[in-house]
Amino acid sequence: MTLADLIPTLRPTLAARLEPGLWPVTAAATCDGRISVGGCDLGELAERHGTPLQVLDVVDVRDRCRAYTRALPDAEITYAGKALLTPAVARLVAAEGLSIDTCSGGEVRIAAAAGVPGERILLHGNVKTDADLRAAGDAGVGRIVIDSFDEIARIAEHARGVQDVMIRVTPGVDAHTLPGLTTGTVNQQFGLPFPDAAIAAKEIGTHPQLRLVGLHCHLGSQITSTAPYVDALHRVVGFAAEQDIDLRVLDMGGGHAVDIRGDAHDGPATLDPKNLARDVLRALHGACAYHRIPVPRLVVEPGRAIVARAGVTLYRVWAVKHIGDTTFVAVDGGMSDNPRPALYGARYPVRRIGKPVRAPLSPMTVVGRHCESTDRIAEGVPLPADIAAGDLVAVPCTGAYTRSMASTYNAVAPTPMLGVGAGAALPI
Ligand code: LLP
Repeated sequence: MTLADLIPTLRPTLAARLEPGLWPVTAAATCDGRISVGGCDLGELAERHGTPLQVLDVVDVRDRCRAYTRALPDAEITYAGKALLTPAVARLVAAEGLSIDTCSGGEVRIAAAAGVPGERILLHGNVKTDADLRAAGDAGVGRIVIDSFDEIARIAEHARGVQDVMIRVTPGVDAHTLPGLTTGTVNQQFGLPFPDAAIAAKEIGTHPQLRLVGLHCHLGSQITSTAPYVDALHRVVGFAAEQDIDLRVLDMGGGHAVDIRGDAHDGPATLDPKNLARDVLRALHGACAYHRIPVPRLVVEPGRAIVARAGVTLYRVWAVKHIGDTTFVAVDGGMSDNPRPALYGARYPVRRIGKPVRAPLSPMTVVGRHCESTDRIAEGVPLPADIAAGDLVAVPCTGAYTRSMASTYNAVAPTPMLGVGAGAALPI
């Protein structure tokens, strides 16, 4: 029995509380069921712009960038554009001093078109086509991360002047995240294991157009602890010292977990940039002293940690069905605007918005509109028992890997995204 069951008149007040850490920093809720972000009422935005609709709190994005630049003032913070990249997002993070990590010619062009200087753009990817490398050349991309032997000569051919490169190594560290999100182990398609990386370093040395400036590793995504980073760092620094690789830059990749309730495999947890900075810097200085090599410039590449919590997706409910013990709430988007539930089994919190909560909450399954039984946004989420067709719902924590992975499945139209801040909402 909850307090709301005992005193039902308290229900709207209790429902006005926003779960900490899940909503954008400027989000505010009222007892009549309204939620605003960036000074904009979400219900009004949905009425004006239609649904589904994604909103991105620009203050939240800025705050996340600042948390990194404060925690790691001497490091290069490189935003992983694959999480969400539009020219406006690129401008927003670049204005906070972040560089941008890209993994295609398309992403390079977006960053360059936004005015991000080439030396602050990094190109990754296990496949770099000639078109990708031409885009990198046009933008004057500062560093290209080599992922295979096959691309070394081609990167040299495309180089305009001397191109700085790094090698992506797989340090053999299992970051204990979801199987689909692990990339630090040796047996997967990204990067080169140490013995191969040593050969690649020698081959790079035979190309006068290439200059090897350091090593990169990325252990996976939704990593909740600093321990795998520390472990990987020791291995990578040891490898560089042993192979006499001039380690000016050490890029430890991204993957910092954001607690999207129900998504973290071993309990909700968020990797705090302050804790990461403390443990990684201590390990970096210790390892370099031990191997007697100069301390390289550290690079980290957060993607999700910068944009996930800034995003909220708004849907309209079009059907409510009670089948057996389950109440299905069907909304007008789903796996086309957020494929994460179908791909990784991710589940999100869901709130009804725009009406006070007077009925008791009961567990419901929120499903999308697509013709797939995996199109489920949430299972067992508490929603008011009187939820009905026509109501609006909001799904927080949807800024990362949603729009960037969207599809037009079932020929649905792309979901628009608005940047909100200081009471204004503009396409972002
Ligand atoms: N750097 C590299 C080289 C990467 O491959 C990635 C992500 C990142 C940085 C940023 O990782 P983050 O900080 O965002 O975790 N689609 C999946 C995530 C795939 C991540 C791929 N690489 C998801 O929706 O969970």
